[in-house]
Parts: sequence; structure tokens; C-alpha cells
Amino acid sequence: MIKKSIKIERAKVIDVPEIYKLINKFAKKNLMLPRVMNDIYERIFEFFVLKERIGETQKVIGCVTLHFTWTGKDNIVLAEIRSLAVDEEYQGKGYGKLLVQKCHKEAKKIGVKKIFALTFVPDFFVKLGYKIVPRETLPHKVWTECINCPFFMSCKETPVIKDL
Ligand SMILES: CC(C)(COP(=O)(O)OP(=O)(O)OC[C@H]1O[C@@H](n2cnc3c(N)ncnc32)[C@H](O)[C@@H]1OP(=O)(O)O)[C@@H](O)C(=O)NCCC(=O)NCCS
Repeated sequence: MIKKSIKIERAKVIDVPEIYKLINKFAKKNLMLPRVMNDIYERIFEFFVLKERIGETQKVIGCVTLHFTWTGKDNIVLAEIRSLAVDEEYQGKGYGKLLVQKCHKEAKKIGVKKIFALTFVPDFFVKLGYKIVPRETLPHKVWTECINCPFFMSCKETPVIKDL
């Protein structure tokens, strides 16, 4: 059951330090890719945050980004889930699923037909209807940003994709 005090919303500038802490705490354990503060601020509009209201304050307890890639000559727009994280204290309560479902809803709203992720937890995505696919099946353009990734030469992420 999702608590009434918990909601998902678009990230605000004020949320960035907490998002940064959440992502990089997991990145230090090699559970997800790190992100720098500047990148989070510049891509703030891609972020959704899961927040818990505690009295007068709100705490960021999860986040995800929805990124889009146009494949060019095939004329396909792909949505991509990145930076999915739920604070350890709140894991196993359906919040990760809620964040992914929010991405599905938002991508569908604007007419996107496919969504994918490059992930360290493919089984989590399989439970949500994703299929594991060979890397080569994703458009070349998807990989162009990988050049900036610290794990470019030893990538252990699994591609998963779903029709919306
Ligand atoms: C992966 C993560 C986002 C899952 O969030 P969560 O809130 O704990 O997951 P949920 O409670 O929504 O789980 C939904 C379903 O997925 C399953 N699941 C959760 N984590 C899983 C995992 N690592 N592997 C396989 N299945 C998983 C749950 O058992 C649940 O199954 P059910 O519907 O049959 O009960 C969270 O564990 C996390 O932030 N991990 C650290 C960062 C990370 O790994 N991010 C992903 C990087 S690619």
C-alpha cells in the first residue's frame, strides 16, 4: 500500500542536492551510474522524484529520469529510464515500480511507443513487462552518450525494452 504522505512529482531545483546524494550513494556501491550536480541541474526537467511529507518538510526518497532519443532515419522516438533509485529504507514497498510506471504514463502521454533501460537489475524490469534484448538491437544513437560513462570499456548493464 502506498502511503498517503508519499507522492511523485517533477523535480524542483530545491530537490537537486537530495537527488545528487541519493544517486551517488548507490553509485559508490556500484549499483548505478554516478551523476554530477551540474548534469542534474541541467537535466532537471527529466527528473521525477518520490517524496515523503514528514510534518512540514518533504524528503526525497526516490528518483528517476525519463530521457528521449530520436533514432534519425528510422524515425522512432525511444524513451529511456535512467537514474532509478529508491532510498534503502523505503525499498521493497512498490515505490520503484511506481516510479517506472510514472515514466510509462508520461511517455505514453506524448505518443512514445517504446521505452528501454540499460540496467544492473534486469529482473526488476522483467517483472514490469520488459524484455531483455541483445545490445545490437538498440539503435546506435543510444550508445553515443556511453562515451562519457566511466564504465564505457567494461559496461555491465543489460538492455531491457518494453512496448507502451
Ligand atoms: C532497484 C530498485 C529501484 C527497486 O525499487 P523497490 O522500490 O525496492 O522495488 P519495488 O518494491 O517497487 O519492487 C517491484 C517488484 O520488483 C521486485 N524487485 C525489486 N528489486 C529487485 C531486484 N533488484 N531484482 C529483481 N526484482 C526486484 C520486487 O520484489 C517486486 O516484485 P513483486 O511485484 O513481485 O512483489 C531499488 O532497489 C534501488 O533503488 N536499488 C539501488 C539502485 C539501483 O539498483 N537502481 C537501478 C539501477 S539500473
